[in-house]
Amino acid sequence: MTYTFQKDRGNIDWTQVTGLLNGFGLTDFTPAQTQTAFENSAVNVFVLAGGKVIGCGRALSDGISQAAVYNIAVDEAYHHRGLGKQIIAAILEETAGCNVVLYTHPNTVSWYEEQGFRRMKTGMAMYHPSHIEQLIKMDFI
Ligand SMILES: CC(C)(COP(=O)(O)OP(=O)(O)OC[C@H]1O[C@@H](n2cnc3c(N)ncnc32)[C@H](O)[C@@H]1OP(=O)(O)O)[C@@H](O)C(=O)NCCC(=O)NCCS
Repeated sequence: MTYTFQKDRGNIDWTQVTGLLNGFGLTDFTPAQTQTAFENSAVNVFVLAGGKVIGCGRALSDGISQAAVYNIAVDEAYHHRGLGKQIIAAILEETAGCNVVLYTHPNTVSWYEEQGFRRMKTGMAMYHPSHIEQLIKMDFI
């Protein structure tokens, strides 16, 4: 299987990206909201297989010193092929020179540690009130 890594948004099917993210519960976006979120992010990465989006990730960044990673996902049928690691590597390439932060599900903390991320002692967040109950339930906070 050939995988194409794409960093631009040309010809991206936002319904496919939305299906991927919503399917894992990472977002509850409409395709239009997904498109806006990616358009407003400095870094976009998509993985395509057979013309279909099977992986994605994005990062907010000031382009100088700070960046934040969101919405990393790989279609379950394509797990364990190194695609997730390559999405992170592509984002880190685009944010070289920056401190890169993220928060993730407790199940994937060790996966990010494998990619070189370290736990923060003083990281804090002002979560949207509508998300807090779910975040507590999922053991994020
Ligand atoms: C996390 C995710 C992106 C990894 O994608 P992937 O393409 O399967 O990852 P890679 O193939 O690059 O790496 C797999 C390796 O990481 C490790 N790994 C995978 N999932 C892991 C987890 N949840 N915790 C710890 N290590 C994990 C394993 O060692 C695995 O090695 P193996 O293939 O020899 O078993 C994918 O599981 C996913 O999309 N999960 C659902 C969405 C999600 O939770 N995203 C992250 C939160 S934003």
